[in-house]
Amino acid sequence: MDITQPTAQSGKVSPKSPEKMESDLSKLGNNLVTKFHVLMRISQIYDSKNVALHQFIQESLQTINTLIQREGTLSLKIIKDDFFLNGQRLRYSVEGFTSFKYLSTHWKKRLIGEVVFKSSVDEEMLKNFIYALINLEEGGEKNAALFEEQLANCQITSIEVNPLEVVEGEEEAFTLQEEDHKEIAKKVFFETVGTIKELLTQIKGKQYADVRKLKRLAQKAVHLIIEDESILLGMTTIKNYDEYTFNHSVNVSIYSLAMGKRLGFSKKTLTELGITALLHDIGKSKIPREVLNKPASLDEEEWGMMKKHPLMGVEIVLNLKQLGEINPRMVVGIFDHHLKSDLSGYPKLFRKKEVSLFGRIIQIADSYDAMSTPRIYKKTPYTPEQALALMLREKTVHFDPLLLKIFIGLVGIYPIGSLVLLNTRELGIVYKPNHDPKCLDRPIVIQVARDEKGDAKKEVIDLTETDGAGRYKRSIVKTLDPHKYHIDIAKYFLRNILG
Ligand SMILES: [Fe+2]
Ligand SMILES: [Fe+2]
Repeated sequence: MDITQPTAQSGKVSPKSPEKMESDLSKLGNNLVTKFHVLMRISQIYDSKNVALHQFIQESLQTINTLIQREGTLSLKIIKDDFFLNGQRLRYSVEGFTSFKYLSTHWKKRLIGEVVFKSSVDEEMLKNFIYALINLEEGGEKNAALFEEQLANCQITSIEVNPLEVVEGEEEAFTLQEEDHKEIAKKVFFETVGTIKELLTQIKGKQYADVRKLKRLAQKAVHLIIEDESILLGMTTIKNYDEYTFNHSVNVSIYSLAMGKRLGFSKKTLTELGITALLHDIGKSKIPREVLNKPASLDEEEWGMMKKHPLMGVEIVLNLKQLGEINPRMVVGIFDHHLKSDLSGYPKLFRKKEVSLFGRIIQIADSYDAMSTPRIYKKTPYTPEQALALMLREKTVHFDPLLLKIFIGLVGIYPIGSLVLLNTRELGIVYKPNHDPKCLDRPIVIQVARDEKGDAKKEVIDLTETDGAGRYKRSIVKTLDPHKYHIDIAKYFLRNILG
């Protein structure tokens, strides 16, 4: 179930309500950005007569002309880092982030800020438009005028192009006070996922891998964890099954940073921990895809390969230029992240050693995220609560008990993102754990319900609230499996809580 769609719970909703129209426009806008992204990429590979291009142009025309029919005209504009469709800011979805990033980078490089379609277009016009766009010189200050000229030469009057508007202070340093924490957290999260993806592809293709960006993102994440960790922790509910390795690395980094913060680490140590966690599985880039994504259990040879990833990760990290000074604990942290406290696990050791602190932290974050994420061989993951219960059962052999206690304090007995049933028969999603040891079972939850218009209610419920007689107004009865209720927790967070 898409939580933004009206359901039986929601009562009657007019499909033509302004909110619904707005969300339709947003969907079409996301679709449009993806189409432009793919069009730009395909046209860089193929010439204008290619069959794949023809097909894709047809699909794109449908999106563009539907929007023009509906809206009369279509303007896609970049202001700072955002896209606006006919004046409405487009919120990017988890799936759409790569396209947003690609399009804004490439338009900005060519100093193009807005494209307006004044009336419907045909295949020839769209082709001319896209080839004119990709052939613009990067950084050319007269690009917009040049573009217009080229369109005019092809007798195209229905498309208009405007230069990028430079917003003052755009290049200014990252300051937490000026921008909304939620927006920054979202940007940092998705940018980090994208950067990890890029890095893994570069390493796999034996290309030069630049990690400076990753380092900067880790620093930003450290600021966010110190300022307001609940937002970043909320982002970990995004468990993207298709992009597991990238998402997983970012989630493990967020959990590790939150644990490091509780252990009183300095900013420098936190940044090192963040980077180590982001790179903990980088050795997997050397394992064939078929093994990583095998739906069945691995045979002996494949398992042997898998067990090498911590060591391969160490080799890669030691060769990464621009990581700057590599503190030994970063390297050891990667090496150790599958070593259990009794030294079972892997790699096999011939001499006794203590599992490093970074290794022990990452191991807890790693296990929790892996268990609570759907995988190709386990499509229905454990609920957050089940994952914690399993980890607690194994704590003496596998995990550092003290660190596990800190982790539970961090995510709560009802971890962030748990779907819970209250004694009032209401449903809620855990938003913030309660850190008071006496009230661990009383987190802050967001009610899962809709108002008369069909919009998700954003009512925040504090479970420590009492009535006049000192009795708790609401309590958790049990956790529910969101998969059974078809509730997509990540989408709910992104759209209704972080949105
Ligand atoms: Fe691993
Ligand atoms: Fe991992």
